[in-house]
Amino acid sequence: MTATEFPLIIQGGMGIGVSSWRLARAVALRGQLGVVSGTAVDLSFTRILQDGDPGGHLRRAIAAFPVPEIGTEALRRWFRPEGRAPGTGYTLVSMYRHTMTVARQQLIMLANFCEVWLAREGQAGQIGINLLTKVQFPTLASLYGAVLAGVDYVLMGAGIPREIPGALDALAQHQPAQLRADADFEARPLAFDPATHAGLAGMNLQRPTFLPIVSSNSLATMLARKANGQVNGFVVEGPTAGGHNAPPRGGDRHGPLNERGEPIYGPRDGVDAAKLAELGLPFWLAGGTGSPEGLATARAAGAAGIQVGTLFAYTDESGLDPALKREVLEGVIAGEVSVRTDPDASPTGYPFKVVERGGVAIGAADRRRKCDIGALRTMHSHEGRTVYRCPAEPVDDYVKKGGKAEDTERRRCLCNGLMADIGLAQVTETGGHEPPLLTAGDDLVTLGRFLEHTGASSSYTASDAIDWLLT
Ligand SMILES: Cc1cc2nc3c(=O)[nH]c(=O)nc-3n(C[C@H](O)[C@H](O)[C@H](O)COP(=O)(O)O)c2cc1C
Repeated sequence: MTATEFPLIIQGGMGIGVSSWRLARAVALRGQLGVVSGTAVDLSFTRILQDGDPGGHLRRAIAAFPVPEIGTEALRRWFRPEGRAPGTGYTLVSMYRHTMTVARQQLIMLANFCEVWLAREGQAGQIGINLLTKVQFPTLASLYGAVLAGVDYVLMGAGIPREIPGALDALAQHQPAQLRADADFEARPLAFDPATHAGLAGMNLQRPTFLPIVSSNSLATMLARKANGQVNGFVVEGPTAGGHNAPPRGGDRHGPLNERGEPIYGPRDGVDAAKLAELGLPFWLAGGTGSPEGLATARAAGAAGIQVGTLFAYTDESGLDPALKREVLEGVIAGEVSVRTDPDASPTGYPFKVVERGGVAIGAADRRRKCDIGALRTMHSHEGRTVYRCPAEPVDDYVKKGGKAEDTERRRCLCNGLMADIGLAQVTETGGHEPPLLTAGDDLVTLGRFLEHTGASSSYTASDAIDWLLT
């Protein structure tokens, strides 16, 4: 691959479902890299099917899956042609675990396949998939599903994806792959064997280009030298980026905070682009780079281009609920919206950016703690058995499994909040809906500048965003 084949713009992978196949497809049609989010995509897949699969898109993608029985089983289990009766909640999918049944693995494979397949359908542009390293248990099945659909790029941050290059090499050859399991005890590796899923071995697959998402020179150097296979470039993400951020250098989330209760970042949190370039690999700068000036500055610093999130998150094609999008964009125009880096909100322990209106997080309703999706659970040993915990679950449950009550303070349920963001909120016991939890980069507040430029009020397309970035 030559440098000229690399995209100038990577549309950032935004979970859950914000970087939908529609958005990735729209970006790829413009010759830039469209990225779908694979994070928990099996959960949104089952919910869309329960809502009757409006437009029939998932059913079209399922019909293209190379093992028809896997698709038939998913439809039998999840598809409700009439949708849900009013007030009826979604049927839940079993939670991710270290070892999952063949059927559960196949649901993950199929959902990731469908998301990539729909983004690629009938167009020749390039498509990537974004996964969070921290959400470990479904990773190998997700990657295999995406590779079966011919994904061009894999992008992974939120952790150190050191064993992903080797896993991609293996999966693209239908060979078994393994990842070290993160746990507070010596756990068996996470293993995935494509041979368990009969009928796929004859397919010719391509090994996708792998771009880890890093926030420091030292991590980039380590991955370039010590990953178990080839790393093909980097996305370098700064602390102004939407979603999760790396904690400040040398500090943690309890380190010094500013008057808004945000972690304090300094010059040491930046990346030295010249030093990064010495690794000889292409890189893209992310975090506040989503503007024509951002692109020009990145190119001048030796980057292949930029990765942009926030600007794409509020396009017509993104998976965000249209009413929420409108509310935020109107708030941006009125100067009422702000973004706060919350050190505690995310159960992962990483700082997480939260969109606020009038100083209050959008959707910050009181909510009864409940863990019924569990995508962020981690594995621990407690009283001789393996337990799974999430600091946003009910405090008693967390403590019963050996967790410390203070670790649960101010944690919010990202799983339910992010599903609500994309219009797939669970119905609560009281007949209401799980509240949303919106994230965006610091750039959100300057989105008004872009809206002014395009003359858009509260609606614009991915193509409008790309036109602006390339001016
Ligand atoms: C709504 C939203 C969700 C995001 N989710 C993810 C994610 O799941 N995985 C990831 O690696 N990055 C995620 N990001 C980060 C973006 O991929 C991108 O790197 C970042 O937004 C770039 O900075 P910008 O927002 O200033 O353009 C998210 C960003 C936003 C705005």
